[in-house]
Amino acid sequence: MKGIILSGGYGERLRPLTFSQQKQLIPVANKPVLFYAIEDVIKAGIKDIGVVVGPNREQVEETIGRRKWNASIEFIQQGEPKGLAHAVMVSQDFVGDNPFVMYLGDNILKEGISQHVAEFQQSGCDASILLCHVTNPTMFGVAELGENGEIVRLVEKPKVPPSDLALVGIYMFRPSIFKAVHSIKPSWRNELEITDSIQWLVENGYKVKSAIVSGWWKDTGKPEDILEANRLVLDEIESRNEGKVDEKASIRGRVSIGKGSEVEGKCMVKGPAIIGERCLIKDSYIGPYTSIGDGCRIIGTEIEDSVVMEGASLQNVGRIVDSLIGRGVNAKATSVLPNGHRLILGDYSQVEL
Ligand code: G1P
Repeated sequence: MKGIILSGGYGERLRPLTFSQQKQLIPVANKPVLFYAIEDVIKAGIKDIGVVVGPNREQVEETIGRRKWNASIEFIQQGEPKGLAHAVMVSQDFVGDNPFVMYLGDNILKEGISQHVAEFQQSGCDASILLCHVTNPTMFGVAELGENGEIVRLVEKPKVPPSDLALVGIYMFRPSIFKAVHSIKPSWRNELEITDSIQWLVENGYKVKSAIVSGWWKDTGKPEDILEANRLVLDEIESRNEGKVDEKASIRGRVSIGKGSEVEGKCMVKGPAIIGERCLIKDSYIGPYTSIGDGCRIIGTEIEDSVVMEGASLQNVGRIVDSLIGRGVNAKATSVLPNGHRLILGDYSQVEL
């Protein structure tokens, strides 16, 4: 079995972060979201992985290349992203006659795919989809199941959802899907939808099965989803201290502190939280569900339920909650007159003061 992992698209709902960073590389608990997908695919025993890339190809290749993987990873250029079914089309040469799993690189699934992949391989089905109960089905592909759990209909982002069962962005296919992706028309949002392709399989008598996932699932398409995924992953983090913690500092609950980091002065770090490598945390409060990336400086600041990315610096900025702080951001209090907030914000930045 092969694996294709999607790491393209523009990530418009995550601007301004995605102006400079491919959305699947945004960190959750200090690890790019994409890595959770790659790790999960490898764990399921898949050794041949194709990563479908688009606008920021070099960045994705470079980030993946920083780590050694127990699998062969190649890159498949998507060109202009025209939808998930289009990503399947461009992967045809890579996949050949093999069954494969397609994993959206911005999805995280707690229970992992191993069990589902094993079941699919034995089933002889043309496709297998995963479903999850959600409170906001209009945001996803949605499945309508019959009395015996059979798939009746699949519809992409329905205005009136037939159920609360969203399609998880992880799909298992046999090569019959290539016929399907070439048979469908673009949707109202002008994308070749994978949902429509699977619906085509159902309508044309191919065998499609579904399973409802038991643990949590997160699609990290929007800022609040990143924060939620960060909370879910941090909920399972283990304590570790490879840095230096001052006697005056207090560490409570599960906190992971990376190499070369210092927690100095009157600090309180309340887990679950992760602090990366080479950080300086001084006279600050780091509250639950916070991830601080490598090389950050947090001084005289209170922060909780937030993701701070590599190399950011926050100095005496008061209390920050529910926030995503991009790489290399520099925020500090100043006494320079005139009084007031001085902001240099990228396009589509969001500030709540
Ligand atoms: C895509 C699929 C949708 C699925 C979702 C899961 O949505 O089209 O059916 O439920 O991924 O992450 P998109 O991210 O393109 O809005």
